[in-house]
Amino acid sequence: MTKIALIGFGVVGQSFARVLSQKQQELKQKYGIDAQVVAISGRSKGSILDEQGLDLEKVLKTFEETGTVESYPTGRKGLDSIQTIKESGADVIVETTNTNLETGMPGLSHVREALSLGKHVITSNKGPPALAYNELKAIGDKNNAKFMIEATVMAGTPVVNTGTKSIAGNKVHGFKGIINGTTNYILTKMEQGGDYDAILKEAQELGYAEADPAGDVEGWDAVGKVVILANTVMGANLKPGDVEREGITGITPEMIRDAKQSSERIKLIAQAYIENGVVKGKVSPEKVHLTDPLANVNGTMNALTYMTDGLLEVTVIGRGAGGVETAHGILSDLIAIYE
Ligand SMILES: NC(=O)c1ccc[n+]([C@@H]2O[C@H](COP(=O)([O-])OP(=O)(O)OC[C@H]3O[C@@H](n4cnc5c(N)ncnc54)[C@H](OP(=O)(O)O)[C@@H]3O)[C@@H](O)[C@H]2O)c1
Repeated sequence: MTKIALIGFGVVGQSFARVLSQKQQELKQKYGIDAQVVAISGRSKGSILDEQGLDLEKVLKTFEETGTVESYPTGRKGLDSIQTIKESGADVIVETTNTNLETGMPGLSHVREALSLGKHVITSNKGPPALAYNELKAIGDKNNAKFMIEATVMAGTPVVNTGTKSIAGNKVHGFKGIINGTTNYILTKMEQGGDYDAILKEAQELGYAEADPAGDVEGWDAVGKVVILANTVMGANLKPGDVEREGITGITPEMIRDAKQSSERIKLIAQAYIENGVVKGKVSPEKVHLTDPLANVNGTMNALTYMTDGLLEVTVIGRGAGGVETAHGILSDLIAIYE
């Protein structure tokens, strides 16, 4: 049996519980993985530990009815996240707490603790890999534990593994893409004639933008992802503060109209490139000609092109956010650990 503890039970944590519950049989039959969630620690959503394995449908139902996982009838209640990592007996920690690109907390302490104890970690949280990928990978290597981060960039669309595994043997000398769905949605809607504030409000109502949209519209989310890809795929050692950054808050309807007149679209482009032997990262609004494939990635869709020596350009396109989409990134990492 593969025992899993979930740390964080928000949109992604709950979606993963639902997806795993639907796929449990398939995982067993197709990959021989008998995956059981033994613990959930969710801060205000409570915590529950049962080493025999939790009935996920029952957990989700009780949680829906009461707002806390502690109404589940059996098991130990009230453990905090670190106690859960230490005491759950889990082999795999799925870490889905909030991203913090300044301190990495609380995720960084969760990941450090779990890897030090020899537990595999799968995370969707950009903080730990953006601030400390090399350190965490080394702790994992020392303790035979994997540190898996596919879900941190473009959710379940396999952009990390494409760069680190699928195109192995190529030298990646850069990448360029649209890796923030919120800003791409806003820019797409502005081209159709809307005003920035009204579209942002609509994006918040649709759940595409957070109540505090600064992380997206000022480019920080994309910066975190650039750092993760540059460090894992290009062997760089960037920190978020090293990446040149400009968001979309200064983009006006006039700028979008002007671009349109010269057959261009404004996109928030995230990229990394090598300059004088050094890897540089940049996030900025750019005019992209309509003949460029990136100009036609609209709405909440994401895309990323790797520039390589052998295959030249390799592009991955897909959904870059959403609970179910991110849960699938976590699921693919789980399968990869046991394959
Ligand atoms: N949603 C997406 O589309 C998406 C896509 C890719 C990556 N991500 C990343 O995945 C992570 C989760 O995203 P989300 O959308 O699920 O966010 P969310 O709904 O805000 O969930 C985060 C959860 O973490 C919990 N938490 C915070 N600190 C904790 C602690 N010390 N112990 C236990 N639980 C703790 C929060 O508890 P409270 O409920 O008490 O606040 C919250 O429920 C984030 O890092 C995000 O950047 C999200």
